Amino acid sequence: MSNSVTRADFDQVMVPNYGPAGFIPVKGLGSRVWDQDGREFVDFSGGIAVNALGHCHPELVAALAEQAGKLWHLSNVFTNEPALKLASLLVEKTFAERVFFCNSGGEANEAAFKLARKYAHDNFGPEKNEIISCVNSFHGRTLFTVSVGGQPKYTEGFGPVPGGIRHIEFNNIESLKAAMSDKACAVVIEPIQGESGIQPATPEFLKAARELCDAHNALLVFDEVQSGMGRTGALYAYQQYGVTPDILTSAKGIGGGFPIGAMLTTDKVAKSFGIGTHGSTYGGNPLACAVAHKVVSLISDPKLLAGVEARRQRLVAGLEAINAKYHVFKEIRGKGLLIGCALVDAYQGRARDFLRAAEKRQLMILVAGLSVLRLAPSLVIDEQDIDEGLARLDAAVADLLAAG
Ligand SMILES: Cc1ncc(COP(=O)(O)O)c(C=O)c1O
Repeated sequence: MSNSVTRADFDQVMVPNYGPAGFIPVKGLGSRVWDQDGREFVDFSGGIAVNALGHCHPELVAALAEQAGKLWHLSNVFTNEPALKLASLLVEKTFAERVFFCNSGGEANEAAFKLARKYAHDNFGPEKNEIISCVNSFHGRTLFTVSVGGQPKYTEGFGPVPGGIRHIEFNNIESLKAAMSDKACAVVIEPIQGESGIQPATPEFLKAARELCDAHNALLVFDEVQSGMGRTGALYAYQQYGVTPDILTSAKGIGGGFPIGAMLTTDKVAKSFGIGTHGSTYGGNPLACAVAHKVVSLISDPKLLAGVEARRQRLVAGLEAINAKYHVFKEIRGKGLLIGCALVDAYQGRARDFLRAAEKRQLMILVAGLSVLRLAPSLVIDEQDIDEGLARLDAAVADLLAAG
């Protein structure tokens, strides 16, 4: 039977901002995915840290189906039970006292940056508007979030960009001290820089950021879109670091694959988003919130969180064994199930070649920048899938080295 649409159609009908793989997945279960031709893949990519409970987790399917038969959408003219239940659960499990829902990480950060500006404006005046962010950070693709993000390639050609943003070196306390002033309204940090190569923040850097924010009446914002929702073995990475932000943004894993974003904050800060100051048509959508409530309930289970570290150890041991044979990684880093394999000098700039080689061996992996392989599998991936994925990665690396 021929497929009614094929990969070739992508190049005809889609805006060319992506270059997807050569196959089209049509079905997923746990950490396995099948394409149009019935070929089965092991998934170490987890939808880029989104499918935190794997594909089609039965409890998420049930939560979605149940809500789909009840109520899909209302708008924020009315509130709804799933949104209130999810917000209450997030408040119970984190530092937060207030929650704002949206649909993506970029929107959660957009809300966070606007709230930081508004809070400073309300409490200290309009001059206090500077946002301090880190070089190589990634916070989303809206014009404000790419401008706060520390990767100039994402703003090139899109100017003029918003002002009032300064960039400091990640993990460099002196660089932060030098940039900090009473003009700063917020310091924004990813506890683990994801898109730019899986670089964890040092505990000292986060602690210093907290202290400097307190000294200058600035808000500390943690972007946990990628590092959150159990990815590091804690519900949110800040809980492992022991440094509490004023605002935290969450997306990706929180919906397990259903689009949702959230901005978490305190009572005091939330006051600056009074009625009409900010909004989103779909924010707090009942379908999204019903699924996310199930996701957060399952992931905040201490047993599930403890399993993240056990799986990391198995994966990292396998990656080290591959490296002992082929010497392609100069560092295996990250936390929990957000793993970066930095390529040795001889393979700089060739992460995509590894991704393509893995695809041929029916393994889905990711890259983070040009020279780092990224793995972000399901937090409940089972041992067999880890071992099978590692065997396929071994074969893929062998293929690549044989091809030169
Ligand atoms: C740390 C971080 N922040 C924000 C985003 C943007 O999220 P979204 O693509 O859902 O807008 C991402 C996405 O990769 C991310 O990793």
